[in-house]
Amino acid sequence: MKSLILYSSSTGNTKKIAHSIYDAIQGGKEIKNISELIDNNVDYENYDIIFLGYWVDKGICDKNSKLVFENIHNKKLALFGTMGASTKGNYGINIMDKVKDVFSKDNEIVGSFICQGKIAEGLKVKYEEMLKLHPENEHICEQLNNHEESQSHPDEQEISEAVRFAKDIIAKASNM
Ligand SMILES: Cc1cc2nc3c(=O)[nH]c(=O)nc-3n(C[C@H](O)[C@H](O)[C@H](O)COP(=O)(O)O)c2cc1C
Repeated sequence: MKSLILYSSSTGNTKKIAHSIYDAIQGGKEIKNISELIDNNVDYENYDIIFLGYWVDKGICDKNSKLVFENIHNKKLALFGTMGASTKGNYGINIMDKVKDVFSKDNEIVGSFICQGKIAEGLKVKYEEMLKLHPENEHICEQLNNHEESQSHPDEQEISEAVRFAKDIIAKASNM
């Protein structure tokens, strides 16, 4: 069983999850950062299972990962992502569904995982500026509260969950 972990990460949260998965799984394995690929070129045929990591950008996977995801065919895939929002509620589930739709139907998506990741300082500043213009706007207040809440993520528990997810995927893929 040979695994590839291919991820996109702007501020390091998804990278952290990707490396935790890489460290935890057994067998042949490689890890690559999408931003370091040359012409998005990977020989997927070398791998039995591909873990694909993305960060959530405006309600969907970031555009670098989307460009790569759209061009994968006939593979077993496991998806993982990080987002600023909490995993309480349906937001994360909806994101995972939307990201699945990015892929060609000839792939087999074996599982999907998402957790919270800290939101960059720059986004907070942007929301603070917006709040000055629209002090009554509840969505902006919510995003600012969410910024605070997000700062400790991904935490130890989420890392453990990601590791468990990855081990389950390997066990499942080995029996397929
Ligand atoms: C431009 C931008 C857009 C974002 N859009 C969303 C979003 O729509 N929903 C969300 O939950 N988080 C959003 N986030 C937060 C990121 O998804 C979150 O911080 C993620 O963990 C970043 O991952 P990374 O550290 O691997 O880059 C956004 C962050 C940025 C910078």
